[in-house]
Amino acid sequence: IIPVSLLFLVVYLLVSSSTSNAQHVRRSEFPDNFLFGTAISAYQVEGGYLEDGKGLSNWDVFSHIPGNIKNNENGDIADDSYHLFWEDAEIAHSLGVNAYRFSISWARILPRGRFGEVNPGGIEFYNKVIDNLLLRGIEPFVTIHHFDHPQELGDRFGGWLSPLMQEEFVLLAETCFKSFGDRVKYWTTINEPNMFAEMGYVRGDFAPARCSQPFGNCSAGNSDKEPFIVVHNMLLAHAKAVKLYREQFQPKQGGSIGIVAHTHMYEPLRDVESDHQAVDRVLAFTGGWVFDPVVFGDYPPEMRQYHRSELPWFSAEETEYVKGSIDFIGINHYSTLYAKDCIHSPCVSGGDHFIRGFAYTTGERDGILIGEPTGVQRFYVVPRGMEKIVDHVSKRYKNIPIYVTENGYSPPLAVPNLVHDVNRIEFHKGYLAALARAIRKGADVRGYFIWSLMDNFEWAGGYSSRFGLYHVDRATMERVPKLSAKWFRHFLANRRTMI
Ligand code: NOJ
Repeated sequence: IIPVSLLFLVVYLLVSSSTSNAQHVRRSEFPDNFLFGTAISAYQVEGGYLEDGKGLSNWDVFSHIPGNIKNNENGDIADDSYHLFWEDAEIAHSLGVNAYRFSISWARILPRGRFGEVNPGGIEFYNKVIDNLLLRGIEPFVTIHHFDHPQELGDRFGGWLSPLMQEEFVLLAETCFKSFGDRVKYWTTINEPNMFAEMGYVRGDFAPARCSQPFGNCSAGNSDKEPFIVVHNMLLAHAKAVKLYREQFQPKQGGSIGIVAHTHMYEPLRDVESDHQAVDRVLAFTGGWVFDPVVFGDYPPEMRQYHRSELPWFSAEETEYVKGSIDFIGINHYSTLYAKDCIHSPCVSGGDHFIRGFAYTTGERDGILIGEPTGVQRFYVVPRGMEKIVDHVSKRYKNIPIYVTENGYSPPLAVPNLVHDVNRIEFHKGYLAALARAIRKGADVRGYFIWSLMDNFEWAGGYSSRFGLYHVDRATMERVPKLSAKWFRHFLANRRTMI
């Protein structure tokens, strides 16, 4: 005979685990060798912007132009990680992470690209970073290009609009493999080509502030083809670097290499076939734009169908080395939006550029938001989206290994409290529980990185976003742990917390 109170408990646990999974996620639900880490990028934390031989980057120049960045802030000092890398490795270690995602500042390693020499100061800096991590048992997870490149490459031939950038990138990648590949076992070539193109060449909010109508502050616009050309050059650069890695470095060094895209999840605005199709289209036009070519060798059929004249082609030879040019997929996932069809039914406004005229995305249905709003426009807290996006990526790309290379929360600006960040804890618990569900359903997920270890320079938003597990006192550069840092430490130690 089972006591009634026990029955109640069992029913409660069953119901609560299916409704509010956030409360129950544990480290032990993930494989033992799973990578748990934090993520940052060079320009967002390093500072030291002209030290030890570093050249000017596109972001150094862009952020110095008044009006480009909120409050006219810049990354000259950022979180001063150039000088405090030792401390950063130490706090990451104190959390108990086994991996640390960071990026290489191109202008620190090759300040003038192939028009100059490798800068020994840059190599020395990243050697110190890598060695400090390894000393603490933390795997360096290195992004070769995260939005910043030497300004000279922009001035000389227009940066990523030019195919010349491909060989420049290969030189950077080769320098990294040669200098660090004996110790770095996880590489990603390029972070978010889709976001880089959208923000820099559609909306004009990021360097080099080019835009396509109706977005951005250039009324005439540049050309609708530019974002497609930029991503095309990035994909070819990626594939050439991977070819080199596989031929010359991977056999000896034994690491793995992938690429990272920005991947929101989408749900149909209305439960009608045309909105379900809109969801598929948006997924193809965002993550698919990057992942389809490197897995299948061409852009998604949906993009070919709707962007006929703008979308470049891969030659037969290029297809050969672009196809299959990843060992794993990296997804940066933060939020979910509704998608609505715009082909068979009218849309209220232009919606997102790449899906303009084809679909419209929004965070609101009948006046109700899809999830709690955050401090970032169009980022809502929708934990179930993590399960859905991982499921989608896993199925579309034939169960390829996946790393969640970014997932994080920045509170609405009105939230005054800096370190009592209960919302962030709830966010990560919810998203981790959803990730665990996707893994149970069969997705081969191998790692999860919180964006970010500490508050940092959020591009055009300056220092107003607060994604960190640590708050950074901007006057003293002291790193102050938030409640979420303590929660993450407990989670990683597989201890239950009452929070
Ligand atoms: C994606 C980018 O990779 C990163 O640089 C940015 O800070 C975060 N998302 C948050 O917006």
